[in-house]
Amino acid sequence: MQSEPATGALEFPPGFTWGAATAAFQVEGCTTADGRTASIWDTFCREPGRVLGGHTGDPGADHYRRVAEDVALMRSLNLGAYRFSVSWPRVRPDGGDLNPAGIGFYDRLVDHLLDNGITPVATLYHWDLPQALEDRGGWAHRDTAARFAEYAETATAVLGDRVSMWTTLNEPWCSAFLGYGSGTHAPGRSDPSAALAAAHHLLLAHGLAMPVIRANARDAVAGITVNLFPVLPASDSAADADAARRVDGLQNRLFLDPVLRGAYPADVLDDVRHLGLAGCVRPGDEEVIAAPVDFVGVNFYRDHHVAAAGAGERAGGAWPGSEDLVFPPRDLPVTALGWEVRPEGLTELLVGLDRDYPGTAWYITENGAAYDDEPVGGEVDDHDRVSYLDGHVRAAHAAVTAGVDLRGYFAWSLLDNFEWAEGYAQRFGIVHVDYATQVRTVKRSGRWYAKVAADNRVPG
Ligand code: NOJ
Repeated sequence: MQSEPATGALEFPPGFTWGAATAAFQVEGCTTADGRTASIWDTFCREPGRVLGGHTGDPGADHYRRVAEDVALMRSLNLGAYRFSVSWPRVRPDGGDLNPAGIGFYDRLVDHLLDNGITPVATLYHWDLPQALEDRGGWAHRDTAARFAEYAETATAVLGDRVSMWTTLNEPWCSAFLGYGSGTHAPGRSDPSAALAAAHHLLLAHGLAMPVIRANARDAVAGITVNLFPVLPASDSAADADAARRVDGLQNRLFLDPVLRGAYPADVLDDVRHLGLAGCVRPGDEEVIAAPVDFVGVNFYRDHHVAAAGAGERAGGAWPGSEDLVFPPRDLPVTALGWEVRPEGLTELLVGLDRDYPGTAWYITENGAAYDDEPVGGEVDDHDRVSYLDGHVRAAHAAVTAGVDLRGYFAWSLLDNFEWAEGYAQRFGIVHVDYATQVRTVKRSGRWYAKVAADNRVPG
């Protein structure tokens, strides 16, 4: 069970956006259809031992073929917006020229959404780098940022007249530090210097794409989505405070400061000086990265509880230069992934962001939880997920009440899907997917969320 349930209905401000999110590789399936070529995740999935159960991007939720049905489902859930990602290897196979059949899928998706009164929210990069570009060095190689700007040009030239909200990257921390640091995500490299180079080149890609989006989607808003965590030291010792500073630096400030303040945080540059980050940053790069954004998307799942030493999960390769830190477990409820549930962390995070980066508009572009739910008699009674979502939506409301400019909330995820290195074992959907039959079953959480979205209020 979850933390103490709050009670009482809560109204959200008029115009607050209620949506749900997915990502191309996680839901589309059809990984070889219509000229799509391999991404780093297709390759990674085929390497023994990388993904639980040897699962791959097929079948996914077969969203590529069931898009009309899925948009009808979104409408039945009263969604005001749908956050999806565009697949780079569909749109520019091998990172090369435009593939009309590939972009055609997103063209149809956007039209279906608009026909149903749902705002399309497009993410350009949700981790599916064309393998051909990884073969040339991937995100550790500066040139990939320029290739991303070309791809952004293609996607926004076709969709920019109808997609009114864009994000460049999803969770660059994961792309850089899980992909090139711990090696737990594609492309599976374990090199702290490459991880930091990747972080910089991802941010550069974001900055190069911003003016492209502005030019092709003149009436749209545009920003970036990052995964942010409140960071709590495990004790009041100076060593734990410094551990928390380093984790906050690598997780949050390394990505937010260059985008919103125009410069990398000095203490983080010092922490990782021996790993060469500063050497990747050329004159003018920070100005490019600081291109004004209209909003920042926050993906929130849990907080970080950090200590310099002791028992707990070791930080490891995902934390370049701070691999020795530990995340001690607390006596808190956990999701099926073992992630601790503490909804008030979301309020703390948003209030802290508003203090540290004043004048920024925020969206929660992902929030949700994995639980082991299976249909029983045609119903999925996922009361733990309802409790998780209720607690976090209330925590978001508390931030709004505290004055944070929070504009919307997207549940992760619309559909059960491919959960990266966990394969299909973890289910995050508010709609259950039977992967054998592709039958969709709206979970209890989906019905609960549909009412929140319709009423713009959390029920008491
Ligand atoms: C964040 C990622 O953006 C998404 O792809 C993933 O499935 C969720 N977190 C849950 O881990």
